[in-house]
Amino acid sequence: MPTDTVPPFFAAHGLSKHFGGIRAVADLSLEIDQGEIIGLIGPNGSGKTTSINMLAGALHPDSGSIRLAGMALNGQPAHFFARHGVARTFQVPRLFRRMSVLENLVVPALSNPRASRAHAERKAREVLEFLRLDRLTHEYARALSGGQQKLLEVGRALMLEPRLILLDEPFAGVHPRLLEQIIDHIKALNRQGLTIMIVDHNLDAIRSVVRRTAVMARGVKIADGAADDVLRDPDVVHAYTGSRKDREGRAHG
Ligand SMILES: Nc1ncnc2c1ncn2[C@@H]1O[C@H](COP(=O)(O)OP(=O)(O)OP(=O)(O)O)[C@@H](O)[C@H]1O
Ligand SMILES: [Mg+2]
Repeated sequence: MPTDTVPPFFAAHGLSKHFGGIRAVADLSLEIDQGEIIGLIGPNGSGKTTSINMLAGALHPDSGSIRLAGMALNGQPAHFFARHGVARTFQVPRLFRRMSVLENLVVPALSNPRASRAHAERKAREVLEFLRLDRLTHEYARALSGGQQKLLEVGRALMLEPRLILLDEPFAGVHPRLLEQIIDHIKALNRQGLTIMIVDHNLDAIRSVVRRTAVMARGVKIADGAADDVLRDPDVVHAYTGSRKDREGRAHG
């Protein structure tokens, strides 16, 4: 038997997290292929952000493991995850509101002692051009619209030159026109080889971007598969609406 099988690109196994008596995430396992773009959906409070926090190293799971290309990441600090290519954005953008758009990209990059300001600035300008935020380079971050702030969050993650990016609600509160732009950027990044996981409540937007989606309800992964199938799954519909409906949409109470 060959023993040199290639490990999965990203693999989480048996992740659990409690906050006091609250079970936020229970026994979550999730594998992501390199180059994949996957959705993670579920009702409010179902454990999506807690999962992202664990997958990005911001929260230590009570149990379970996280591996990137076979290397164990769990137990390491968030900057270790970031250095090895796992980046994330925040549900509520965590920008430096009184700094310029450019500084918002440059300053975090300079927390790496080996980074040079000139290099960080060059990279930041590249990122801003890609995201079509370059005309806002010298604006205060607080002057940006909600959608532009979401884009800048993505930009901050891109500064890390990640291999995997975990997006927490990139579509929330975004004007429809900018929404299309964000979707296009996500698709373009994926075409460039970036592996992406998107958490969001906008199921139409999710469906237009991902082929596969996982679903959480009350901290448990209840479905994982082709987005079209998953979104028709009666258990998933039930988790969202609280009433069981069949494929024709008739309510069974
Ligand atoms: N730091 C914390 N302390 C205590 N409870 C928490 C904490 N973070 C999350 N929780 C609880 O864990 C559960 C899962 O929360 P989480 O934020 O992961 O859900 P979510 O799926 O991201 O929800 P939403 O769609 O509203 O963003 C909720 O019951 C929440 O109240
Ligand atoms: Mg959340």
